[in-house]
Amino acid sequence: MNPERAAGQDPRLARIPPARWPSREEALGSRLFSPVRVGACTARTRTWVPAMVPWRANDEGFVTDDVLDWYGRFADGEPGVLVVEATGVRDVPSGPLLRVGDDRFVPGLTRLADVVRARSRGRTRLFLQVLDFLAVKRRPAKETWVRRFFKLRDEHRQRLARLAGGAAIAGLEDAALREALLALPHATLLAILDPREAEELEKGYRERVTDVTLPHVRDLPRVLPPLFAAAAERTRAAGFDGVELHYAHAYTMASFLSRTNDRADGYGGSVEGRARLGVEVARAVRERVGHDWTVGCRILGDEVIEGGSRVEDAAFHALALARAGLDFVSVSKGGKFDDAKQPKVGEAVYPYTGPSGHECMPTVKIEGGPFGRNLPISAAIRAHLRTSGCAIPVVGAGGINSYEMAERALHDGSCDLVAAARQSLADPDWWRKIELGRGADIRRCLYTNYCEALDQRHEQVTCQLWDRDMDASDPGRTGIARSSDGKRRLVPPAWAREHDAG
Ligand SMILES: Cc1cc2nc3c(=O)[nH]c(=O)nc-3n(C[C@H](O)[C@H](O)[C@H](O)COP(=O)(O)O)c2cc1C
Ligand code: SF4
Repeated sequence: MNPERAAGQDPRLARIPPARWPSREEALGSRLFSPVRVGACTARTRTWVPAMVPWRANDEGFVTDDVLDWYGRFADGEPGVLVVEATGVRDVPSGPLLRVGDDRFVPGLTRLADVVRARSRGRTRLFLQVLDFLAVKRRPAKETWVRRFFKLRDEHRQRLARLAGGAAIAGLEDAALREALLALPHATLLAILDPREAEELEKGYRERVTDVTLPHVRDLPRVLPPLFAAAAERTRAAGFDGVELHYAHAYTMASFLSRTNDRADGYGGSVEGRARLGVEVARAVRERVGHDWTVGCRILGDEVIEGGSRVEDAAFHALALARAGLDFVSVSKGGKFDDAKQPKVGEAVYPYTGPSGHECMPTVKIEGGPFGRNLPISAAIRAHLRTSGCAIPVVGAGGINSYEMAERALHDGSCDLVAAARQSLADPDWWRKIELGRGADIRRCLYTNYCEALDQRHEQVTCQLWDRDMDASDPGRTGIARSSDGKRRLVPPAWAREHDAG
């Protein structure tokens, strides 16, 4: 089915704008396909595939053959820069998320860098996105939480006595009190709990950077700089061209930058205080890897939550991070836990389900559509950097799906490199097809987030436009690698490159 028609069928959905694709000559003369310096390396073109977690690592956090196939397939499209998914800087069990918290992860990452170098013919610069995150637990069953996890204190007893009548609870033992709480209407139970306890019951336990009574949270400013520095050093040893510090979305570093961070130990409160840990991590990384290797970060141009950071904070932070030695700033938006939907019992809260999440991976259902939606925030950040005399490249993302939009963004100062996540997932060859004057062959993303729904369930991410296509087989593989349920192919079919002489 023609994707443009499919998305246009429902009048509530934004239409995918028709695209005009350039000839090969026009593409070659464009800004999009011109080189740009990114720190110590040069990207051959200004095309960028941002980090996307595809759930292909194993439970020990190692690179698997599926990880190699996945990134190899993106490398076939020869983007200027390919950023490998969010990878944990700690050596702690994290499910099938890549890790770089120990030297034993280096050989797998080295194989990954080798595959990308070979399959992109040395044309793609490869960065690893590195992150830290705090504990998030699954939503408990109400009975289990009240009986086993809830720390019953005198304040709760007093509130219960007020609401349920003192006589009714007088003399009740702890276990009987818990049963009395369970017998209450749900709203009354919530009124007896503190806000954090109510949240724990409703959404599951979640740590914040402001939980400074927890020693491991209080110590984050001491612990994180060397962890990130060691992760970057390993990434360099594995042969990557650079590292992207993940300071965006729902994770630790973004939470330090956030206006919601009111830590009183010098690492919160004012815009300078909130930047402090980001700056110290950046300096520690730079000191460890030297100046001849690329180090950048991804930040939020706007958190899109009540009381959260806005573009002015992001512009200030981008400049502070550039002055601390970072080579690029990639701009994202939203994706916070704060406004995420309540998960089902037994599931964990997912930061892309509320209004901020919808701005992070905008769909055709969002008012105005996703197309180039977040470029005004990268433009504002870039303008602030430039007027402050800072020339580092800025990467823009969000619903970018055509040559003309990308080229316009580069000419009007919205960004210096153009990132496309889902369009690259729908068709990893799309940049290459444009460059070769073969734009009409592009499989265009529908922006309905089938892929994101798989991510949410921690299932192997694929795209609805190609994952049932079992006819084609990829070079170098016998048969087609399939998802655990056997129904979906794991990498897009190969593009017939017989016309690709470039
Ligand atoms: C399946 C999936 C996984 C993602 N994982 C990450 C991630 O690991 N790190 C990150 O910074 N952004 C992640 N993103 C966000 C994308 O990098 C990108 O910012 C977002 O999808 C908007 O760009 P687009 O409209 O071009 O898709 C992910 C997006 C998708 C769809
Ligand atoms: S599955 Fe994801 S990448 Fe594929 S068309 Fe849908 S939104 Fe685009």
